[in-house]
Amino acid sequence: MPLGVNDINNKANSHTPNLREVTRSLLEEHEREAPRTTVLSCLLEVQEKLRYVPEEAITEVAKHTGHSINEVWGVASFYTNFRFAPPPEHIVEVCWGPTCHLLGAMDVLVAIQAKLGLDGEGDVADGAIGLKYNTCLGACSQGPVISVDERVTGGVSVETALAIIESTLGAR
Ligand code: FES
Repeated sequence: MPLGVNDINNKANSHTPNLREVTRSLLEEHEREAPRTTVLSCLLEVQEKLRYVPEEAITEVAKHTGHSINEVWGVASFYTNFRFAPPPEHIVEVCWGPTCHLLGAMDVLVAIQAKLGLDGEGDVADGAIGLKYNTCLGACSQGPVISVDERVTGGVSVETALAIIESTLGAR
């Protein structure tokens, strides 16, 4: 019986030594669903299911596709969207696209960075939350816009943005 997403996440997130086994299993399932797999499609599958690409997965993708580990690293490191460490519990994105910028996004961004103790994009030390910049969250008319775990909120002020961050951290 194929592993469900929750089984995979539970196994991966429990940091068992089974990341190889988990990766192998999801690559086999990926091949059953899409027989023409590539290094990139395998890496995308791993990231989609585990939310990052662990080192063990690089080895397993290499074995699965018949490529060298260097070749797989070459593909994985080319694309900036791949993560090689477990993601934070929550991800906040702040839009600093042109419209949001004009509507005050920088004040919101600076306040969130100060709140999280970050100088730029990144994760807080305990892995509770990560900050990413976004060039457009698709709600320009409602700028400034932020999203937390892909839930978009528009028309934020410094105060409302900080309240959202606090409630996100408080909900852990
Ligand atoms: S520029 Fe911010 S949502 Fe489009």
